[in-house]
Amino acid sequence: MIQTIKNIDVKNKKVLVRVDFNVPMDDDGDITEDERIVAVIPTINFLLEKDAKIILMSHLGRPEGQVVEKLRMGKIAKKLGELLDKEVIKLDDCIGQKVKEKINKMKTKEIILLENLRFHAEEENNDEKFAKELASLAEVYVNDAFSNSHRNHASMTGITKFLPSYAGLLLEKEIRVLSSVMKNPEKPFVAIIGGAKPDKIEVIRNLLMFADKIIIGGVLANTFLKAMGANIGKSKFDPESLNDAKSLLSQSGGKIILPVDLFVAKSIEKGENSRVVKINKITDECMIGDIGPDTIALYKKTLMGAKTVVWSGPIGAFEFEKFSEGTNEIALFLSGLKAKVIIGGGDSAVAIKQLGLESEITYISTGGGAFLQFLSGKKLPAINALEESAS
Ligand code: 3PG
Repeated sequence: MIQTIKNIDVKNKKVLVRVDFNVPMDDDGDITEDERIVAVIPTINFLLEKDAKIILMSHLGRPEGQVVEKLRMGKIAKKLGELLDKEVIKLDDCIGQKVKEKINKMKTKEIILLENLRFHAEEENNDEKFAKELASLAEVYVNDAFSNSHRNHASMTGITKFLPSYAGLLLEKEIRVLSSVMKNPEKPFVAIIGGAKPDKIEVIRNLLMFADKIIIGGVLANTFLKAMGANIGKSKFDPESLNDAKSLLSQSGGKIILPVDLFVAKSIEKGENSRVVKINKITDECMIGDIGPDTIALYKKTLMGAKTVVWSGPIGAFEFEKFSEGTNEIALFLSGLKAKVIIGGGDSAVAIKQLGLESEITYISTGGGAFLQFLSGKKLPAINALEESAS
């Protein structure tokens, strides 16, 4: 059992909170989606009400142990300050003497945001000395970064050896909601798994044990179609997952639902010569951009009557307007379904948001990779570390 911040007294204590402020930014470094920042505000407000000194730490992007100017946390501190209507002091590093001095001068209810943890390679290497240095900044550690809890990094796991460690309100909520869905889903339970990441094969393997149907989309669908022997032209697929896809198809007992027609073009970026084709009519020069109308109808029919739906990953190359219809149609259909609908992964959540459908969805997780790992039944290392530190 993990302990949460509700169980502790933090009055006047320095509380080091691991958050996931790894948010999308445009070329000018402006934040384009702030959901992950908004999602930790309840924890920050809770700690403020309890008179804590709050030190936030996060990674941003993948700087690989180097200082990368555009991955500094300055704009995030500004955004958080605006959201809280309160000053958020951003420091220039996450460890070291200067950081310690600033923290030691903190007053109750002050908020500090440390610099990007991944400017130090030791973060991703889960270096013990680095974890200990981070821990030396505070008296209590809080993990409120569900979406990074699949990472075995110093600020996520290593640090729990050196400080009393607790879950924040967001982490607690994510675990509660997702566990209840996975333990006892009201049936019929339909999963929609799209996108491009190869680790989704493992998710499907686990879902086959309790889902009634699994709808496949995106690059993942291309891999399955190729595994079935279809010509997918020049479309992207994951060669390493072909054998697994083949064996999953043979074990699935008809649970896996694949496209029957597709919207193809000569290139996805340019979209020229685009047309709808049946899956046995894809020619060598084609690239698959989206599902076709018959597939949209098939997917809707599969979802009809579902009582629980889990969705991660777009159905087609939805970042290109021309190929966004499949994803948008499914998003719209889900919003009208009388079912518990849980969505994870940045892109599916973005599709829902672009259509203004957030309020129609039961729960949108902040997790992408972490959400999928949770669905695949694997213990997330950072949640494990919190449990171990509590025992
Ligand atoms: C995520 O966006 O899934 C987390 O912030 C983890 O980021 P990473 O994939 O760069 O480790």
